Amino acid sequence: MSSITIKDGSIISISQVVNEYLDKTLDLVENVFAEYHLLKDNNPAEGKVVRALVEEIRSKKYYVPELDLMALNEKEEIIGYALFSKFHIEGRYINKNEEDRLLMLTPVAVKTNMQRKGISKALIEYGFEKARKMGYTAVLVEGDPKNYNPRGFVTSSDYGIVPGENIHLPRIECLMIYELVSGALERMYGVVDYSFYKTLSE
Ligand SMILES: CC(C)(COP(=O)(O)OP(=O)(O)OC[C@H]1O[C@@H](n2cnc3c(N)ncnc32)[C@H](O)[C@@H]1OP(=O)(O)O)[C@@H](O)C(=O)NCCC(=O)NCCS
Repeated sequence: MSSITIKDGSIISISQVVNEYLDKTLDLVENVFAEYHLLKDNNPAEGKVVRALVEEIRSKKYYVPELDLMALNEKEEIIGYALFSKFHIEGRYINKNEEDRLLMLTPVAVKTNMQRKGISKALIEYGFEKARKMGYTAVLVEGDPKNYNPRGFVTSSDYGIVPGENIHLPRIECLMIYELVSGALERMYGVVDYSFYKTLSE
């Protein structure tokens, strides 16, 4: 657990999701993405899709409970969420031991009225630190570069990690990777395939 003072001066705590928050984190994710997509493309149903994605990741072998993270406010209400799970790319790993050292970050959600205060930054940095200690070497993410470039993510295809046929990106820059351990990206390359996850392939 980690306590952090955010931009509005309040203190938040970041920790692994514990049992009593499993459903509350799903509700947060659904609401945040519904609100975001209502404004973006009049498609609030996207909230349910992202909720289903979290449920699917939690049910599968790539789930890492220690990296299922939530942010709580001082009243212990849930205000943020980030999920890192194991990920495998079809490709070449110069070092065989690196095969299971890659993570995917999805989704990240911060309560709509609490955004731009540094909550996702705190969640992601907490996750990086913990993941590094657990031996992971890199983190893949699909999203808007403006949210992730400030966190140090770079375009993955520049490093030979390219989207597969079932990934439809608005722009190639939307698939990004972050190196947790210096030099890791020089040792892995290949094609990213989401077909393991039903929710991501639909
Ligand atoms: C994207 C999201 C997770 C960011 O969370 P957040 O807590 O508001 O982000 P932070 O306050 O930690 O922002 C960190 C930095 O990221 C960048 N950033 C975040 N949101 C941004 C935005 N809407 N536009 C431009 N830059 C943004 C900025 O550099 C920001 O630093 P700054 O506020 O000092 O300029 C949150 O807005 C959210 O839940 N959005 C809806 C769901 C979603 O889009 N999830 C991510 C899928 S790509």
